[in-house]
Amino acid sequence: MMYKSLFLATLVVFSGCAQQEHHSNLDGKKLLEQKCSQCHNTDLPPKTFADEKAPPMMAVAFHIKDFIHASSESDKIPKAIEFVKDYVVNPSASKSFCDKQSLKEYGVMPSQKGKVTQDELQAIAEYMFSHYTLQNLTQAQMLENRLAKMPKGKRLALQNGCLSCHKINKDLVGPSFHTIAKRYDGKMTTIEQSIKNGSSNKYKTSRGAVMPAFAKKISDQDIKVLSEWIVQR
Ligand code: HEC
Ligand code: HEC
Repeated sequence: MMYKSLFLATLVVFSGCAQQEHHSNLDGKKLLEQKCSQCHNTDLPPKTFADEKAPPMMAVAFHIKDFIHASSESDKIPKAIEFVKDYVVNPSASKSFCDKQSLKEYGVMPSQKGKVTQDELQAIAEYMFSHYTLQNLTQAQMLENRLAKMPKGKRLALQNGCLSCHKINKDLVGPSFHTIAKRYDGKMTTIEQSIKNGSSNKYKTSRGAVMPAFAKKISDQDIKVLSEWIVQR
């Protein structure tokens, strides 16, 4: 849905620093997942599928910000929120900002009247226009790129919070992965067991701090990958 042109316009809108007038107390992120994600992919960056039921939410948000009529930059987000609140219960081909071809492929959105309240929509729309921003997209893409380039063991260590207690070459709360690798000299069994079940009192440098158990949080297969990565440090 014309991503490239959307990006530029969004940049302009957000450097204008539009403030929303009143904030909803409802959890827009959760409501978006509950009420909209069965048709709209909500990931940032979005995942697209050949047989998707609707455009990804990021595209919808960018689209609306791009095409909404407003008297000034600061009026754009409030107008965009009003558009969402109306469109979801009263959708039509003539109101949609979707290009004709996409509209034909997806069909007009079925009205969600009765399935979502105006208060909930206020929260959802506020979340949409604060979360799906060029800045957040760029950040998410940079993180994805960085993660994709890492060895899988390191990525798992980062994603599971291991690196908040362990460093590769320096004792922190937990012993360095280098220290652990040396201790077991290439043998993974104890390392795997300790990641699964936790560990305590083996390392003086940890001064009584405890290694938490991860068996419930990380699959056996990923624990193996982590262990292989650690013994090579
Ligand atoms: C049953 C599937 C379905 C559900 C559920 C759904 N949508 Fe949609 N939506 C679509 C389809 C299909 C389109 C694209 C066609 C169109 O523009 O009407 C669309 C389009 C839209 C548009 C207009 C996009 C544009 O570019 O003009 C908005 C706004 C929107 N959806 C918001 C929402 C929100 C918010 C929710 C959750 C409260 C939601 N939708 C739930 C199917 C769905
Ligand atoms: C809250 C802090 C903390 C987190 C998070 C943490 N660890 Fe530890 N880890 C420790 C401490 C403390 C020790 C030392 C325990 C001891 O003295 O036996 C340790 C020890 C270990 C050991 C050595 C165990 C042994 O038997 O010699 C391994 C391997 C290990 N951690 C891997 C990991 C991995 C992989 C992760 C992420 C999935 C992780 N740790 C997350 C604190 C942590």
